[in-house]
Amino acid sequence: MCGIIGFLGNGEAVPVLLDGLRRLEYRGYDSAGIAVLNQEGIVRRRAAGKIANLEAMLTSNGVAGKAGVGHTRWATHGAPTRRNAHPHMTGRVAVVHNGIIENYRTLRDDMRAGGRRFESETDTEVVAHLFDALLEAEGTPAAAMTALMERLEGMFALAILIEGDDVVLAGARRGAPLAVGWGEGGLFLASDAIALAGHTRKVSYLEEDDLALVRRDGVEILGTGGHPVKRPVVDTELSGAVIGKGNYRHFMEKEIHEQPVAVGETLGRYLDPDAGSITIPGASLGPGAVERMTLIACGTAYYAALIGKYWLERLARLPADADIASEFRYRQAPMVEGGLGVFISQSGETADTLAAMRYARGLGRTVLAVTNTETSTVAREADLVLATHAGPEIGVAATKTFTSQVAVLFCLAVATARDRGTIDHHEVARLAGVLTTLPSTLARVIAMEEEFRQIAWDVAEARHVLYLGRGTSAIVAMEGALKLKEISYIHAEAHAAGEMKHGPIALIDEHVPVIVVAPGDELFDKTMSNVEEARARGGRIILITDEAGAADAGPVADRMVVLPAVDSLVTPLVHAIPVQMIAYHAAMRKGTDVDQPRNLAKSVTVE
Ligand code: G6P
Repeated sequence: MCGIIGFLGNGEAVPVLLDGLRRLEYRGYDSAGIAVLNQEGIVRRRAAGKIANLEAMLTSNGVAGKAGVGHTRWATHGAPTRRNAHPHMTGRVAVVHNGIIENYRTLRDDMRAGGRRFESETDTEVVAHLFDALLEAEGTPAAAMTALMERLEGMFALAILIEGDDVVLAGARRGAPLAVGWGEGGLFLASDAIALAGHTRKVSYLEEDDLALVRRDGVEILGTGGHPVKRPVVDTELSGAVIGKGNYRHFMEKEIHEQPVAVGETLGRYLDPDAGSITIPGASLGPGAVERMTLIACGTAYYAALIGKYWLERLARLPADADIASEFRYRQAPMVEGGLGVFISQSGETADTLAAMRYARGLGRTVLAVTNTETSTVAREADLVLATHAGPEIGVAATKTFTSQVAVLFCLAVATARDRGTIDHHEVARLAGVLTTLPSTLARVIAMEEEFRQIAWDVAEARHVLYLGRGTSAIVAMEGALKLKEISYIHAEAHAAGEMKHGPIALIDEHVPVIVVAPGDELFDKTMSNVEEARARGGRIILITDEAGAADAGPVADRMVVLPAVDSLVTPLVHAIPVQMIAYHAAMRKGTDVDQPRNLAKSVTVE
């Protein structure tokens, strides 16, 4: 969601804060602001819209100071205006915040009654006033922060700039991540280590309800009850270069192209090509240990979960459910004894996924996390972490982390099947061989980009697009429709092809491209029957298939792309690439903001 950063150092704060905000912009870009501390006190600059607007403002109206806080916003409370932009200030403090203060109305009403005046519609401004009042009452930032935490409800991370104390920055974490950065030239608070790439690799992640007090001579971390605690300093291995765009126009384009490496790196942790084995270290997956799996996630990760469900059922004959995190918890879904919860989250910080995971833990179930962020809350709270090794993903629309999640779930399904005895070691070795060649197949598909671009230019003219598929290809179709909506703003729907005749077929006319994901597998003929139905009603058919499918398809499609043939089990990994590239190039054609599509944010840390 929002991105926050704080800096206290030897050099000027503004360039450091801006650099950090640019790296955090994937978390939200409705407005941006900074506040710095200098001889005049706390000075603030804010702008609606992207960080570029704030930068332009600072170029003409700069501020000096060696300490400060910065924020990039994804609006929750109050419109994305300058008035609602963070930091929010009053008295001796300026506050930046990520998350939601759930009891802000009560707190604001109380403080209004006490004579305080509020300028914005945000929940954050309440924190500024409350902390300012507590600072007066308690005398020290440590005591005021402890008292603040007792009064605030919700999930949040805070960075507060304080005037007139040796504690210049205070940070707090409850439910939303906050890291302390230990640099040569200064000390930092930040939503994630990516913000600090290029400044420091040494980072400590705060735990739930930790406070951080940043003085010139170091950072003191206080745990629950205000007692000093030590949090390990880890080397993040992120460099400024790793998260640049390189020669690509967009992060999304770069990340699509990185998929052979991302999937290869990820598979490398679970696959031993020489031994022909696939293992999930630390997991007991056999009968007795696991009777059912429930895979839970949001957004694109939910589609990975659905593919995982299909594989677990088919390969391991294990009952499996895939569920949307925000629904799972609130309908109080039961989880049977022996039920394993698998929580899938690129960021490991998605509020709904985390809450659903805590719900499963509350039921006493074992929980497993599939995440790209091993330092995330989801990873820390899971019984076992299955990491994806996709590297940082900055484009808001998930691409390489999706295929990496799907690759891990395939390994999980194969390992479960082996432990349940539904496949033997010969089949495991065969599937290990299939996975070994997968990264090079992905590279071959990526090399077909020009074909996908041509389709995308056609699709970009449409107002509505229908995606169809069967089996795991229906899920790839759903991911394709989601990608198209997210970044090109074209209305797209995806349906299991067999369901089309029960409603969606009414949408079809000559203006609606119908993109069909149909590898030449055992479902191909059934899908083609549905394609004929669509074609008979004037639908323009775009067929994404493989060599076997192309041989069988006949003249049904207006356009067809033919992907390399792979084992029918792993087609979702291969067919994901064209649907990503179609969305990317449709967005390019329409001129939308590919990496930062409107209204979206990459890491959604509010419910
Ligand atoms: C946001 C992103 C999506 C992502 C979803 C879940 O909506 O824009 O790309 O799929 O969150 O994120 P997670 O980090 O939990 O995988």
